[in-house]
Amino acid sequence: MKLKSPIVGSSIRLRSMTTTDLPLKVAWYNDPEIRRMLIVNEIFELGKTIEWFEAIKDSQSRLDLMIESDSSRPIGQISLVNIDHQHKTAEIILVIGDKDYWGKGVMFEAESLLIQWAFEKRGIEKVWAQTRSENVASLITMKKLGFKIQGSLGKEKILAGQRFDIIHLDLLPQDFKPANCTKCP
Ligand SMILES: CC(C)(COP(=O)(O)OP(=O)(O)OC[C@H]1O[C@@H](n2cnc3c(N)ncnc32)[C@H](O)[C@@H]1OP(=O)(O)O)[C@@H](O)C(=O)NCCC(=O)NCCS
Repeated sequence: MKLKSPIVGSSIRLRSMTTTDLPLKVAWYNDPEIRRMLIVNEIFELGKTIEWFEAIKDSQSRLDLMIESDSSRPIGQISLVNIDHQHKTAEIILVIGDKDYWGKGVMFEAESLLIQWAFEKRGIEKVWAQTRSENVASLITMKKLGFKIQGSLGKEKILAGQRFDIIHLDLLPQDFKPANCTKCP
């Protein structure tokens, strides 16, 4: 899936990822403090990541975007993946890689912008997400956006050698409370 022009919010904007962004993606996904909350075991390498990007950049089943601050600095990455055009569903994933921007509501605004675009411009009818049960910031933010917890998958994943519970959440358009809404459901 492609973005024709950036999605602009009040303090951030979302734009298409390019090859020049990949060193940042690799650094963020390999950062131990960030990885503690991710559902990932792979250690990222730049060469393999460039190969991966070449293979997926025109894929219809995902959309990879950079989150930029108001000064056009890349501060994170957000994607729709597993886009299912038949059932009109997509999974949302996100990393705020620049820790100066943690605790400032960036996840809330970035997810809100992308979900609004997906519902209104791309006909997606359900967005889902999975998070580790100890990822309180993610769970609080998704609840604020209107996500509902659909299940807790007990001891679902082995991450860094330990088993972890995974929470599955989803969001329908009628439950969506976007960051800019005045009358929320
Ligand atoms: C998780 C992450 C996305 C959070 O983004 P963020 O925008 O900085 O989130 P915040 O720190 O503003 O926290 C969001 C909310 O959770 C609350 N919160 C965060 N940690 C909390 C804790 N330990 N206890 C209680 N509340 C907490 C915040 O107060 C905030 O509440 P508010 O919206 O009412 O102000 C970011 O830390 C990150 O990228 N982490 C690594 C990757 C990751 O976890 N990705 C998500 C995978 S699903």
